[in-house]
Amino acid sequence: MPDSVLVAYGTTNGSTARIAEAIADVLRKEGLTAEARPARSVESVTSYDAVVVGGGLYAGRWHKDARRFVRRYRRDLDERPLWLFSSGPLDPSASERDIPPVPGVKKAMDQLDAREHVTFGGCLEEGAKGWVARMILRSGKGGDFRDFTAIEAWVARIGSELAGATFERS
Ligand SMILES: Cc1cc2nc3c(=O)[nH]c(=O)nc-3n(C[C@H](O)[C@H](O)[C@H](O)COP(=O)(O)O)c2cc1C
Repeated sequence: MPDSVLVAYGTTNGSTARIAEAIADVLRKEGLTAEARPARSVESVTSYDAVVVGGGLYAGRWHKDARRFVRRYRRDLDERPLWLFSSGPLDPSASERDIPPVPGVKKAMDQLDAREHVTFGGCLEEGAKGWVARMILRSGKGGDFRDFTAIEAWVARIGSELAGATFERS
């Protein structure tokens, strides 16, 4: 059974990092070894049996650190069970329906044969970087739309898929 999972994330304002930590927590509760790390700080994925990659959405694209991560490690990722997630919508839509991946993430999914992708609600709060963020906040459209119940339910599925898998580390 694969037991070591990397949860790599790309974040600008920290809310995707918190989702990644929650994912790693649930995996650990399921008896796996899991660590959440900023995608830009990862130097190799060969010591992990499975990988989850997530990124905040910015102007219709995955966070650049998540994009670079899947590009850089595509060969190793292709050989491992892989799940992707995005975090973005600043409204309850992600809790109400499945939101498909943005085109760049869909392409990565197909190329790397990822098991699944999910979009979680995002979060934008006071102190966020950038003038667009400040404008969104000033217009009253910020808030925290992360749904940790949905996040935990998704991770439980990953945990049970991994529990049922046999996987040779390369
Ligand atoms: C400049 C800017 C652009 C954004 N563009 C999108 C977008 O295209 N789609 C989306 O769903 N959310 C978008 N959002 C919302 C963010 O994805 C959301 O705040 C997310 O939780 C940010 O993740 P982070 O805190 O990890 O950086 C945008 C937010 C900002 C500030």
